[in-house]
Amino acid sequence: MSKTKIKYVCSNCGYESLRWLGKCPECDSWNSFTEEIVEADKQKKITYKGNVAINSIDQISANEEERIKTRIEEFDRVLGGGLMPGSVILLGGDPGIGKSTLAMQAASNIKEKVLYVTGEESAKQIKIRANRLKIKSENFYVLAETDMSVIISGINNLSPAVVVIDSIQTMYRSELENSPGTITQIRESTALLMEEAKRNLFSVIIIGHVTKEGMIAGPKILEHIVDTVIQFEGESNHSFRILRAQKNRFGSTNEIGVFEMHEDGLTEVKNPSELFLSEREKESAGSAVTATIEGTRPILLEVQALVTPSNYGNPQRVATGFDYRRLSILLAVLEKRAGLRLSAANVFLNLAGGAKINEPAIDLSICCSIASSLLDKIVDNNTVVIGEVGLGGEIRSVGNIEKRIQEAEKLGFKKVILPKNNMKGIKNNGTIRIIPAENLSEVINILLK
Ligand SMILES: Nc1ncnc2c1ncn2[C@@H]1O[C@H](COP(=O)(O)OP(=O)(O)O)[C@@H](O)[C@H]1O
Ligand SMILES: [Mg+2]
Repeated sequence: MSKTKIKYVCSNCGYESLRWLGKCPECDSWNSFTEEIVEADKQKKITYKGNVAINSIDQISANEEERIKTRIEEFDRVLGGGLMPGSVILLGGDPGIGKSTLAMQAASNIKEKVLYVTGEESAKQIKIRANRLKIKSENFYVLAETDMSVIISGINNLSPAVVVIDSIQTMYRSELENSPGTITQIRESTALLMEEAKRNLFSVIIIGHVTKEGMIAGPKILEHIVDTVIQFEGESNHSFRILRAQKNRFGSTNEIGVFEMHEDGLTEVKNPSELFLSEREKESAGSAVTATIEGTRPILLEVQALVTPSNYGNPQRVATGFDYRRLSILLAVLEKRAGLRLSAANVFLNLAGGAKINEPAIDLSICCSIASSLLDKIVDNNTVVIGEVGLGGEIRSVGNIEKRIQEAEKLGFKKVILPKNNMKGIKNNGTIRIIPAENLSEVINILLK
């Protein structure tokens, strides 16, 4: 018997090396190398089969209506209108975020036959969960199995329209010597599913865990193989969850889906702005409302700042949900261009509801909330503030201004302060009052003096 050969594979990007490395030369991640067995060379002689039928593009029939609807609107939208038959979707997210819950709820909603393959729970545990989620469906089949060859036979016997694999890290191909969860197993199991899905035209939702760094284990490799990569995100101490497409061969990657996690499962949030503004304290200094764009949808959210005098040397600056460096820049602009004394103040910034935004259009609301807290003056609670703030204190124009205004109007706001340069793009004849602004001190004067 020949000696087993060992190689080391980066669990992040799949880079292979003959010796263990502390840092991956390909993707620069640390401590990501794991030992794997080099699979024996099973190269076969290539044979060319004759008589291949080739169609012209006009002869191929296809229409968009063939998509399988999960009938969870937020999910379907992110998918680009439902599941494309024959496509493979990778659903990633932190453990406990709700991937299995989402997949089960979607599976039970689908009219066609669905096979739910679980490698993490027993069929009984799945049933208990289904009871908790109040799932009832005649077309929902469960298979507790991790061996890919058994799974494929199961799929062939049942011929479902959709297969859910929960999770890919537990699955293995018995012909390979590596253990489940290794890059080789993940890649080969996915490749097999992909092949079967394209041949028999069923869709596959593959659930994948995310590593500490926020990457799906073996992401680079899987991202290239699968058709669609969807990430399920959220803060564990907040109940809302965001579904985001990172790659989509059959739809846009701009859409997001918003959900709320309850004991009996996920519910769709049709109007995220209401959710983000629901706990707003209307008469308190340090709070400002802005309109941001997530995907193609406008979302209103509350920015909160707390400014306190710093009694010891270095003042503290903490930002939750917003880039820390950007906050430092805005503080410098507030100090220099609007004359606010902030250099000796602690500044704590928070986007309410656990939102994370890196869009510059919320700059102005951040500046306003900080100024409001420092001056202890309340920002009018019927006003929405929109605009990017430049280093000169100028208010720069932002995209999608009409959508933002409409959302503010829809939620009953009376005024919106926005960049003067955006005025030409506005046709809005609604009831909301539009106040154009050119620079930061002007806005602070309007709002807080
Ligand atoms: N028995 C239960 N009662 C109420 N909520 C539960 C229960 N079990 C799980 N959950 C909720 O579901 C979440 C786990 O969701 P799950 O779909 O299993 O996540 P994932 O598959 O992403 O690891 C938990 O964080 C918790 O909020
Ligand atoms: Mg799970």
